[in-house]
Amino acid sequence: METIQSDSPKKVFIETWGCQMNVADSEQMLGLLRAQNYTQTDKPEDADLVLLNTCHIREKATHKVLSRLGRMREISLEFNPKMKIAVAGCVAQAEGKKLMEKASNIDILLGPGKIQELPGLLAAHAADGKRAMAIGFEKHVVDSHRHDPAPELAVKTEVETPYVTNPTVTMKEEITRFVNIAQGCDNFCTFCVVPFTRGREISRPLESIVSEVKTLLTEGAKEITLLGQNVNSYGDDLVRDGKHVAPADGPFVELLDRVAQIPGVERLRFTTSNPHDFTKPVAEMFRKHKNLGRYIHLPVQAGHDDVLERMKRKVTVAQYMERIQWLRDIDPEMALSTDLIVGFPGETEDEFQGTLDLVEKVRYSFIYAFKYSSRKGTAAARFKDQVPEAVMHERLLRLQALQNRITTELNVAEIGNRREVLCHYASRKEPDVYYGRTEQFRLVKITSTRNLVGKTLTVDIVEANKTALVGVIV
Ligand code: 5AD
Ligand code: SF4
Repeated sequence: METIQSDSPKKVFIETWGCQMNVADSEQMLGLLRAQNYTQTDKPEDADLVLLNTCHIREKATHKVLSRLGRMREISLEFNPKMKIAVAGCVAQAEGKKLMEKASNIDILLGPGKIQELPGLLAAHAADGKRAMAIGFEKHVVDSHRHDPAPELAVKTEVETPYVTNPTVTMKEEITRFVNIAQGCDNFCTFCVVPFTRGREISRPLESIVSEVKTLLTEGAKEITLLGQNVNSYGDDLVRDGKHVAPADGPFVELLDRVAQIPGVERLRFTTSNPHDFTKPVAEMFRKHKNLGRYIHLPVQAGHDDVLERMKRKVTVAQYMERIQWLRDIDPEMALSTDLIVGFPGETEDEFQGTLDLVEKVRYSFIYAFKYSSRKGTAAARFKDQVPEAVMHERLLRLQALQNRITTELNVAEIGNRREVLCHYASRKEPDVYYGRTEQFRLVKITSTRNLVGKTLTVDIVEANKTALVGVIV
């Protein structure tokens, strides 16, 4: 697409909800807007464009967006009549026209499959003042422009941690950069809207990923995180469509092997892994490549086979544990996190106990625990025996209490250990304070009068609590 450089500098305020895919999409939109002479602001009062990148994964999503749009209307009336509003992300994709009808102040609406159209939509709106909308997906257009962002579009990652639920994209963190390797998902877990809002899986060509990683390294990145809804099935579509020759251990292993060997990749991580597609050769990559971070997010969702079956997760608890064993045989210190849903339709107390038992057994570093939320269009929305809210609530509290205890125990057990810490950013509040992560992804606070950002340091862990460790440079 030809980009039209507009003359006057403009400001964009971006708000991002949800997963890392959304964070990556926000970055890409910011890159497109920068090419249009936009700079970022953290005040909607000053913004020519307010961009809300939305998430649809759990209920009240639309409600949240509408309430945010209401607030923007007030700000616009009071301080900023020039404000234009764009709504992107999965709520835009799922609600489309309905959302436009409910909120008359949306100027532009675009789904996650239409990100490259943002400049065109803005131009069209500027030309005729009409509301502009683009949603939907192309079918397996693997070479489409959106899978191959030009290097100048790759902008800095500006979030503090990859797992915040509502990051306003404002905080610069240039050391770790995210690279999309695939969009969408083919799995249709019975609770999940992702295959509906993000479409079927489309992988990006391997060479294009490798070349983006190299570009990011020249811009100062030290850590690369490969991103997809289900990274382990990366490339299956390319092989199926005859666009890629099937390698012996599968395309994801081939990709990991390639990226890990690019000089300058000090640390490599990937997310999210579906246990069903997590193979032994993937685990073996941790043996081969020492720069693969010793931490993995492996969502299990529930700790009872009957629930897993109703969820169509396609693995049993035993198979899940076997995968963890592969990893811990290679590195006994391998750290894990997971996603868990409590109160999936029909979940009995006994089945829930399975989840608690699993959490005790694995000893995750941390978990993301959610109450089940019924999503229109998914299979589970039609299941009988929806669990009452009060029961879900009580189960969630028990699960969180258990995990808080485990997280604290694991962190406290770090005291006395010597760790390699990659320093990510300087504290905005405290002078001379820096934050980094161990290979096991534990957050470490380090005090220093010298700038540590981007440095890998050997530290002794001297203190710990539930949220972070304190390290002293050796
Ligand atoms: N209800 C509750 N949690 C959900 N997730 C996805 N869909 C739902 C739902 N309908 C959770 C899953 C997933 C994470 C990203 O969000 O745990 O792994
Ligand atoms: Fe949703 Fe399941 Fe796909 Fe994950 S693997 S995005 S939970 S359908």
